[in-house]
Amino acid sequence: MAFNIAIDGPAGAGKSTIARRVAKELSFIYVDTGAMYRAMALYFWRKGINPEDEEAVSAACDEITVTLSNEKGEQQVFLNGENVNGFIRTEEIGKMTSQVSAYGKVRQKLTQLQREMASSTDLIMDGRDIGTCVLPDAQVKIYLTASVETRGKRRFLELQEKGADCELGQICEDIRLRDEQDMNREISPLKRAEDAVLIDSSFMSIEEVVAQILKIVQKCRR
Ligand code: DC
Repeated sequence: MAFNIAIDGPAGAGKSTIARRVAKELSFIYVDTGAMYRAMALYFWRKGINPEDEEAVSAACDEITVTLSNEKGEQQVFLNGENVNGFIRTEEIGKMTSQVSAYGKVRQKLTQLQREMASSTDLIMDGRDIGTCVLPDAQVKIYLTASVETRGKRRFLELQEKGADCELGQICEDIRLRDEQDMNREISPLKRAEDAVLIDSSFMSIEEVVAQILKIVQKCRR
């Protein structure tokens, strides 16, 4: 049986950085489910579909195929055969993703694909609903969070490093809005699974979080 690790948590908590490191340590595949939702949002955006129009978004879902591949340890996301890794990380697509990921048709499509992947492969999967909905039987579940201020500051530094013109207050506000949308939607809202270990990384280094998760995994595998 495949060994599955689920990591959920709000935007900017460091899930992908940490999941990538843990995957490397364990020689597991890392699956970033946010990228799959982002690829779908990119399709709607390119087609000019209004993200508030659930009917139009749902109808377009049947035109989309999302696939993943792993190249040199990095996940590549394909939208109808096109590698879209370079197009999905903008703030605009992030906002649209948060909106359209509330719809049942969008979630259904990706949830099924995610379960198929996890059934046969040892993997670490991160997202919002992995421990609660996609993989309720995952052997290890982590809920990784950090304060809005910490997450905002991390995002601010990241953007500054890329040379982007940004403002800390606005970034914190965007994060708050995203939390609210992701936590209050009707279907599969972001929440901690009852059996998930809570890790607040506000005052922890990446190495400390990775070490804590590896310890939990070791205990489970014994
Ligand atoms: O992790 P991320 O920032 O790339 O995710 C972008 C959006 O996708 C996030 O705001 C909510 C949505 N998402 C989701 O609803 N369920 C997941 N399993 C992963 C992401």
